[in-house]
Amino acid sequence: MKTLLKEISAIVDNDLPLVSNLANISALLYKLPNINWAGFYMVEADKCYLGPFQGDVACTTILKGKGVVGTCLERKTPIIVDDVNKFKGHIACSSLSKSEIVIPVLKDDEVKLIIDLDAPIYSRFTTTELEFLLEVKRIIEGLL
Ligand code: SME
Repeated sequence: MKTLLKEISAIVDNDLPLVSNLANISALLYKLPNINWAGFYMVEADKCYLGPFQGDVACTTILKGKGVVGTCLERKTPIIVDDVNKFKGHIACSSLSKSEIVIPVLKDDEVKLIIDLDAPIYSRFTTTELEFLLEVKRIIEGLL
């Protein structure tokens, strides 16, 4: 994951639109083993809209407080879901997804976007992935 972090740092370019940087970051995050979806939800007026991603077609709009993504927007904290079937209100975009991690990216104490990774196995995400994604979050915050 250190190599991936270096690749992400190397590929981002402050002169590019955010969407271009996020598109390439999603391509790199998707290289993690045992991942079936990696991407971003962009926050606008308390709604999360599908952003750049890799993986299957996904839900385009998630309301604040709904699903794992909307709960992340509400709580403003990362969430690790070991078993999506046990998360009340989980939104199943893909039947492949068994576990999930979401990380809010903030500017001026407001959630601007959410990093979202899904895995086809249970309990895929641990503190190792959390720490890695918190680094990715810091890189993205530098682009906002
Ligand atoms: N499972 C998410 C929806 C987004 S997809 O995982 C890409 C949720 O419950 O909010």
